[in-house]
Amino acid sequence: MNKPNPTIRQATFAARRARFIESMGRGIAVIPTAPETVRNRDSHFPYRNDSYFHYLSGFTEPEAVLVLIAGESPKSILFCREKNAEREVWDGFRFGPEAAREAFAMDEAQTIATLDETLPKLMADQPTIFTPLGLDPAWDRRIIAALNGVRAQIRTGISAPAVLHDARDLLDRMRLLKDEEEIALMQRAADISVGAHTRAMARTRPGWFEYQVEAELTHEFLRHGALSPAYPSIVASGPGACVLHYRANDRQMAAGELRLIDAGCELQGYASDITRSFPVGKAFTGPQREVYELVLAAQAACIEALAPGRPFHDYHDVAEKVLAQGLIDLRLCQGTLDAVLETGDFKRFYMHRAGHWLGLDVHDAGAYREAGQSLPLAPGMVLTVEPGCYIRPAENVDERFWNIGVRIEDDLLITATGTRNLTAAAPKTVADIEALRRDALGNR
Ligand code: GLY
Ligand code: MN
Ligand code: MN
Repeated sequence: MNKPNPTIRQATFAARRARFIESMGRGIAVIPTAPETVRNRDSHFPYRNDSYFHYLSGFTEPEAVLVLIAGESPKSILFCREKNAEREVWDGFRFGPEAAREAFAMDEAQTIATLDETLPKLMADQPTIFTPLGLDPAWDRRIIAALNGVRAQIRTGISAPAVLHDARDLLDRMRLLKDEEEIALMQRAADISVGAHTRAMARTRPGWFEYQVEAELTHEFLRHGALSPAYPSIVASGPGACVLHYRANDRQMAAGELRLIDAGCELQGYASDITRSFPVGKAFTGPQREVYELVLAAQAACIEALAPGRPFHDYHDVAEKVLAQGLIDLRLCQGTLDAVLETGDFKRFYMHRAGHWLGLDVHDAGAYREAGQSLPLAPGMVLTVEPGCYIRPAENVDERFWNIGVRIEDDLLITATGTRNLTAAAPKTVADIEALRRDALGNR
């Protein structure tokens, strides 16, 4: 039996709306969910609601808009699809406004069909409209049309909003700090993904195709109720491990190669994001181990550099320093550490940042700098730590290292006293990985 996954309570969504409304001061917020996207003809891509909309409502149906009114009588109004017995025969249950109002603790709910005629009325006499701007041209046009609808009536004595404020500005600040329920959900998503990586590591066989391993990951996600990966799983081997966003997942793997898996499930909207690199055979080759140990040391140093109050960018600098020195030691870069850092020569082998915020989005909402200064880390922030080293065949590169691609990625929560590694249980040391591979392959 599966243990039930944690959930976010309706009271928590309502409390977020109240906090957001408070931060608006006065005005109206109009937050749309994501549109559905056609895959071909009558088939759509699996639907995923918008993260900001989800953060404030928990409502997962398409064709919905949340309106929040701030000021003397604050109010939450959900616009959603009508009940439709016929469509429900084809597509399944939909709430309809009445049941949605009740279930999602809204003050009011209305059919989405009335949105365009209702918005100008709701916007009348409001000083400011808070909405995501520049995200979807169709949405921008709809908001401007509603605003013009108010302007058309100003001779009747009402005033039109004078300010358009990007709602994401306020919401990003809120989303950056995860509450207890979010942390519990993210820990569960992390646990499921750890299980998936461990399974993939234990089942990979020389001669398998990469997609067979992807199937092992997906199996583990789904059977625990994580219905989607948080991003397309990267299951790379050999030269593919040096392609940062490798997508093909269709190559046949051979012993002696490295494989790199960057995969994490999404659980009730929340992402996990783990990378592990391990041998297709039983053991790392010498050069593979040297590069692996370097990236592992860089990752450990990065994690050491995380603490409440420390600037976000510190761990990026640490990753660059440790990797640049290691590349010099491996004779892949020449010169002093200062020179290699100064010229950026190490970027031939390490060309991305050390990590990013993690939450409802895999590259989560939230600024990294404020007024030019790196954001100080604070308890409740969740970020990835993912240094890597990717060595493509090239004339001036020692051939022993060709096609070695290593990334090691964990998800870290900043706590009051330091950090908690949400994904620490995924095997990571050379000894643990090789023991697992030996067990997996036995006498092969
Ligand atoms: N999996 C995407 C990333 O690591 O940023
Ligand atoms: Mn990542
Ligand atoms: Mn990743």
